[in-house]
Amino acid sequence: MTDISLGGKATIVSGAGSGLGQTMALALAGAGANVLIADNREGAIAATLDAAPNDGVRARLAGYVADVAFEGERIKIADACVREFGRIDALINNAGIGQDTIREDYATNPIRPWEVEAKHLEKFFAVHTIAPLRLAAAVLPAMIAQGKGRIITVTTSLTTMTRGNMTAYGGAKAASEAYMAGLSEELARDVDTAGITVNILVPGGAADTPMVPDRPGLDRRTLTPPWVMAAPVIWLVSDLSDGITARRFIGKDWDPKAPLEDAINSAGAPIGWNG
Ligand SMILES: NC(=O)c1ccc[n+]([C@@H]2O[C@H](COP(=O)([O-])OP(=O)(O)OC[C@H]3O[C@@H](n4cnc5c(N)ncnc54)[C@H](O)[C@@H]3O)[C@@H](O)[C@H]2O)c1
Repeated sequence: MTDISLGGKATIVSGAGSGLGQTMALALAGAGANVLIADNREGAIAATLDAAPNDGVRARLAGYVADVAFEGERIKIADACVREFGRIDALINNAGIGQDTIREDYATNPIRPWEVEAKHLEKFFAVHTIAPLRLAAAVLPAMIAQGKGRIITVTTSLTTMTRGNMTAYGGAKAASEAYMAGLSEELARDVDTAGITVNILVPGGAADTPMVPDRPGLDRRTLTPPWVMAAPVIWLVSDLSDGITARRFIGKDWDPKAPLEDAINSAGAPIGWNG
């Protein structure tokens, strides 16, 4: 898939017990990173550990049960990474919940924006917005001390951010990406923090994970396969992406067979809303 070697880089992947997070965690460990699988479901962490293809990859994975919706747990995730691996090189903000947590049949029975209750919005913003921001804050002291780091956030397609049936999910993801844009600018400004990059990675369209429930007429073969995240996330964590910040990458548009420069250019765009 890629011949990039990550040489033991200490990486946190939130929500790595399933779907895109599991794929990224296994790909990163396969490329030589040490990966903290932070998920709020113990069984899901066990599933990712069990899915490791060999003992060498398994040895680079550590599980940590934590709910990113809570501030104390976010700090514990950062502490756990330092405890396990001695440093923090990269944070992948990936944990997420879908609109099916509001209403299971949302895909066929759309949720009107005024039906979304305050408790739903609070949960979506806690997981999708405040968690990435506060996890970034929790890892930044270690990254600043090291003079280098990676903050990579999985938001969503720009069209999903403004879709009527997706207001809780889309609004929280848009706020997260806006904050990451501001954070990238702020870090790039100062010589002490300029080595820490902030980028967005999305699959591109609905991906074939448990977050996208089956519905009548859905052909899962038309969904984006999770593996599209693997090559770009390995490159983003690696030293080869030094200096690349304030970008959003679409996994589906990354051609793992193309020369690296071509893959970077065809999958990348400025972070946020270009114009
Ligand atoms: N599936 C898609 O179509 C799609 C598209 C664009 C972006 N995304 C985003 O990609 C990310 C991964 O989604 P996925 O499709 O792999 O979903 P998924 O449901 O397969 O995985 C999400 C993981 O996050 C974990 N999680 C949820 N809430 C958590 C919490 N409070 N604390 C810790 N862990 C928590 C879950 O236990 C699960 O393991 C999400 O941020 C999602 O919004 C998904």
